Amino acid sequence: MKISVVGAGGNVGAAAALTIAQRDFAQEVVAIDLEIKREDRTFNPAKGRALDQWHTSPIHLFDTRVHGTTDYAATSDSDICIITAGVPRRPGMSRDDLLSTNAEIVRPVAEKLAHYSPGTILIVVSNPLDAMTYVAYRASGLPAERVMGMAGLLDTARFRAFLAEELAVSPKDIQTQILGGHGDTMVPLPRYTTVAGIPVTQLISGEKLDAIIERTKFGGGEFVGIMGTSAWYAPGAAAAQMAEAIALDQNRIFPCAAWLTGQYGLKDLFVGVPVKLGKGGIKQILELELDADEKALLETSAQDVRRSFEDLGRLMQF
Ligand code: NAI
Ligand code: 2OP
Repeated sequence: MKISVVGAGGNVGAAAALTIAQRDFAQEVVAIDLEIKREDRTFNPAKGRALDQWHTSPIHLFDTRVHGTTDYAATSDSDICIITAGVPRRPGMSRDDLLSTNAEIVRPVAEKLAHYSPGTILIVVSNPLDAMTYVAYRASGLPAERVMGMAGLLDTARFRAFLAEELAVSPKDIQTQILGGHGDTMVPLPRYTTVAGIPVTQLISGEKLDAIIERTKFGGGEFVGIMGTSAWYAPGAAAAQMAEAIALDQNRIFPCAAWLTGQYGLKDLFVGVPVKLGKGGIKQILELELDADEKALLETSAQDVRRSFEDLGRLMQF
């Protein structure tokens, strides 16, 4: 199992690469990033981070060989590629700026990855997530079941962590799903949230649950407010968990951005939905029964994603 991570000189990519190595399910992780020039010298962040990560192998007890490079030929025949290349949103940067900047980065990255690994599966992390997954899909020419976006797993992880603390239970016992785009209009689903099989609504007041749902929706922003840049440990770990489910053919049910062809009444969009992940990528998109309110919230979220696809069409001539 060979996994390449592009953007691995940065925060999320480095966290993903290290988590993959620590979980010891891949023989090789190739970390890719750009060279940077500083004071007339050239540095290679992916190579440096990879070297440091590999040095933890006797401590964390893994056999995965992590190495870093700027050369895409080294990614040849990757089973899975993770794209975290791009800029995180900075103060003063508009949604459109982020969209066009990262689309210009993700498009050639996806083209090169697919060129060197035509059989690969792409996991996109770069933001705006649903739109960047679409860019990677179009640029790579890979089939839809082999292109997906990571966001729902991060958003559900935040929801589970907040609930676990409030209820004083293990986060392991909390199961949930979140639908929709990776933005403020994401749709956490209390009706599909349980604590060891017990509906969460039996264990917490509506008021407290609503407050946790709001905190989840703005979980990314909460972190940016504290750190001045976006999160990396949880996003990196979530991308690694998706890779693990595919590598080990685990048939895990995770919320992922998937290409919809009529499911949930939505078409020609990448939107977060529960999927079965295993060998070959997305094996199935699961359609939950939604009530009228849930359907309306998903439609609002899908509208946001649709708008970003329209902006993308204008910017990229897709
Ligand atoms: P970062 O700035 O720490 O790392 C990004 C890396 O991408 C940098 O090392 C940069 O050199 C590299 N890069 C830029 N252009 C490249 C190119 N053409 N080829 C190869 N590498 C290139 O940023 P961070 O925090 O790691 O975030 C990365 C992306 O992930 C951002 O777009 C961010 O918004 C997104 N993100 C998405 C999340 C999600 O839930 N989907 C969660 C957290 C971050
Ligand atoms: C997050 O949710 C900003 O997408 C990033 O942390």
